Amino acid sequence: MTAQLIDGNALSRQLRAEVAQRATALKARGTTPGLAVVLVGDNPASQVYVRNKVKACEDAGFHSVLEKYDASMTEAQLLARVEALNNDPAIHGILVQLPLPAHIDDHKVIETISPLKDVDGFHVASAGALMVGEVGFKACTPYGCMKMLESIGMKDLRGKHAVVIGRSNIVGKPMAMMLLAANATVTICHSGTADLAAMTRQADIVVAAVGKRNVLTADMCKPGAVVIDVGMNRNDEGKLCGDVDFDGVKDVAGFITPVPGGVGPMTITMLLVNTMEAAERAAG
Ligand code: GUN
Repeated sequence: MTAQLIDGNALSRQLRAEVAQRATALKARGTTPGLAVVLVGDNPASQVYVRNKVKACEDAGFHSVLEKYDASMTEAQLLARVEALNNDPAIHGILVQLPLPAHIDDHKVIETISPLKDVDGFHVASAGALMVGEVGFKACTPYGCMKMLESIGMKDLRGKHAVVIGRSNIVGKPMAMMLLAANATVTICHSGTADLAAMTRQADIVVAAVGKRNVLTADMCKPGAVVIDVGMNRNDEGKLCGDVDFDGVKDVAGFITPVPGGVGPMTITMLLVNTMEAAERAAG
């Protein structure tokens, strides 16, 4: 192994401790940061995610509310709950866990969340703010990736070429915008890009966010590159693995994030950061 690991657990601990300090300071001024997490249905993965989000809030000293609803909840009922949370002064951040049941329009629900409380950063207003460099909320997973780059001294990315593989609204696209805002040259690919390897071999930074194993292999990686693996897959033995062929790429890359223990913990950490930020903005 030549690549250095970027440890998402260690970085998360550090950032969460900073958030807890800010929460203590804000509480002393009379405001407790509050996050509402809304789960509709019984998707097993979502249940684990929301439990972890609520636990992280409690550990940081936040007020947190978990609202769980049956999969039969109507869209109108959910929109009414979101409106109520928009108007609840104890709640600074609202997160509606995705995916929602098929009869509910995700987009409509996200657009009903007040942009002032959109701590997931999924609202069109948040995406637009990121695009034009205005104040909003950054989507948590790509924001976490940026913090991981910062942790190895890569804050200003002028002169660096970043290749993002994957163009989802919640990771790939906002990731590309954040890299661009940090002055990188950015190429956005997807798993079907013609000669993907020719792209990634030029990259100083590769972010893999496709949701498929072995999207990036050693032969596709420039020696010394920084490799950020957003994937969460299972290998043939049922073990958690990312989009990157870790065993091969670790001998070529300069830095690499592991799965698990890389980007994963950073997503919840940045949710705490965003909620903290929302509460501070609300408190003035
Ligand atoms: N489902 C998977 N990841 C996420 C996330 O970051 N936020 C929400 N709301 N739902 C998700």
